[in-house]
Amino acid sequence: MLKVLVAIDGPAGAGKSTIAKLVAKKFDLMYIDTGAMYRAITYLAQIRNIPPSNVEGLCNLINSISMYFENGKIIVNGEDLSAEIRDPNVSGNVSLYASIPEVRTLLVKLQKDLASEYEVVMDGRDIGTVVMPNAPFKFFLTATPEIRADRRYKELKEKNQQIEYKDILEEIIKRDYIDSNRQTSPLKKAKDAIEIDTTNYTIEEVVDEISNLIQNTIIKRRKDS
Ligand code: CDP
Repeated sequence: MLKVLVAIDGPAGAGKSTIAKLVAKKFDLMYIDTGAMYRAITYLAQIRNIPPSNVEGLCNLINSISMYFENGKIIVNGEDLSAEIRDPNVSGNVSLYASIPEVRTLLVKLQKDLASEYEVVMDGRDIGTVVMPNAPFKFFLTATPEIRADRRYKELKEKNQQIEYKDILEEIIKRDYIDSNRQTSPLKKAKDAIEIDTTNYTIEEVVDEISNLIQNTIIKRRKDS
């Protein structure tokens, strides 16, 4: 029986999380937002004054908390941190914390455990390459930086956040640079991932394309077995 594991990677604002949520719903899979996990660690490290240089402190922090997803919300030590982790302060620092190899090892282990227990859609930067290298479905979503910044700007404006378009564009370009150039599991398309440039497509069109590819493979595998 084919285990449905879907990896969705790509840079900030490519539409990964919206698309991943919809695909998860369509196929009744668990949605795991790995970016939210790195964001939650960054948020907690900031309020507890643990700088990126204190690797031991960060590892102790990760090992001492409980973290899981419930209805698309990230619950840490029993508290819903979904809003807090989108704060610009977190967005501006998350890539620094996420570039620390020891932090990645611990979070990747949690992510791999979830993927071995459940059928999942997971989105992030290293899902197709490191977390689920054997996933039968891998997608790499891209779009121009301007379009991605524009999408993020509209999203944050809807949440009434005071934010400038140029600051968002600057932040995602900086984050993409750090994510793509770090030593440990950088943002990279897996060789066997299907790349989709979402610049000129709506969310629905991308979801349909991904869903059709998944559905066709499921039907073909069933026929073959
Ligand atoms: O939603 P957005 O594209 O803004 O980013 P995110 O998915 O919430 O991820 C936030 C940050 O976490 C990224 O910029 C990466 O630095 C880091 N991240 C990572 O290193 N590896 C992942 N698998 C997911 C996120």
